[in-house]
Amino acid sequence: MVTGGSRGIGAAIADAFRELGDEVVALSSADVDLADPDAIERVVGSAADTLGGIDVLVNNAGLVELGSVDLPYAQWQALWRRTFAVNVFGAADMSYCVARHMISRGVRGRIVNVGSRGAFRGEPAMPAYGASKAALHSMGQSLAVALAPHGIAVASVAPGFVGTDRVADMVTDEVLAQSPFGRVAKPEEVAAAVVYLASSEAEWASGAVLDLNGASYLRT
Ligand SMILES: NC(=O)c1ccc[n+]([C@@H]2O[C@H](COP(=O)([O-])OP(=O)(O)OC[C@H]3O[C@@H](n4cnc5c(N)ncnc54)[C@H](OP(=O)(O)O)[C@@H]3O)[C@@H](O)[C@H]2O)c1
Repeated sequence: MVTGGSRGIGAAIADAFRELGDEVVALSSADVDLADPDAIERVVGSAADTLGGIDVLVNNAGLVELGSVDLPYAQWQALWRRTFAVNVFGAADMSYCVARHMISRGVRGRIVNVGSRGAFRGEPAMPAYGASKAALHSMGQSLAVALAPHGIAVASVAPGFVGTDRVADMVTDEVLAQSPFGRVAKPEEVAAAVVYLASSEAEWASGAVLDLNGASYLRT
C-alpha cells in the first residue's frame, strides 16, 4: 500500500513493486485525505479485505507548501496545522491501522516512510515541512522498536531533491550544484531504496533513516 502513489516518487515506488509482481494499492488524495482519520481506517480496512492482507505500507504522500515567517500569523498557523495533519498525523494513522492488521494476521510486514533531507539540512522557506519530516523520521524510529517484537520492520528514506514534475521549476543550477554529482535524484532511485527497505532481507535496517541525497548533505 503506497500513499501518494498517483504521481512523482509514489508512482515510481508503486511501479517498482508491480515490476516484482506485487499487488499494489496506490492511493491518491482522491482515494483518501490523509488528514481524515476515519477515511484512513476505512481505506486500510477495505484494502486489507480486498488484498487478503497488507505486507508493506509506504508512507510517501506529503504536503509541500512554501511559507515562512513572512506570512501573516493566521496563515502561518494554518500552514503548520495543515502540514502536520497530512505529513505526520496522516502517516501515524496509516501506520497504526496497517500495523494492527499486520499484527492480527501475523504478518512480518514492513513500513517505509519517505522523509526528507530537509529534516537535517533545514527548510528556511518551509519550516513546517522540515519539522514534519523530522517528526516522521522520529516516528519511524520509535515504531521500529515498538513493532520489532511482532517481526515488523520500520525504516525511512531521506531524499534530497528528486526530479518530479512538482519540483521541475525549482531545479536551478544552484540546486544541481548542491550535489557533487551535479544532478538531482531520479524517482526510480528512491523507489529502489524503498523496495530494499520493504524486503525480507532488510529486517536489520529497521530503525534506519537512509540518506538519498547524492552527497549533497552529510550529517554526523
Ligand atoms: N520531490 C522531491 O524533491 C522530494 C524530496 C524529498 C522528499 N520528498 C518527499 O517525497 C514524497 C513524494 O514527493 P513528490 O515530489 O513525488 O510529490 P508529489 O508529486 O507532489 O506527489 C504528492 C503525492 O501526495 C499525495 N497527497 C498530497 N496531499 C495528500 C492528502 N492530503 N491526502 C492523500 N494524499 C495526498 C498526492 O495525491 P494527488 O495526486 O491526489 O494530489 C500525490 O500522490 C513527499 O512526502 C515529499 O515530501 C520529495
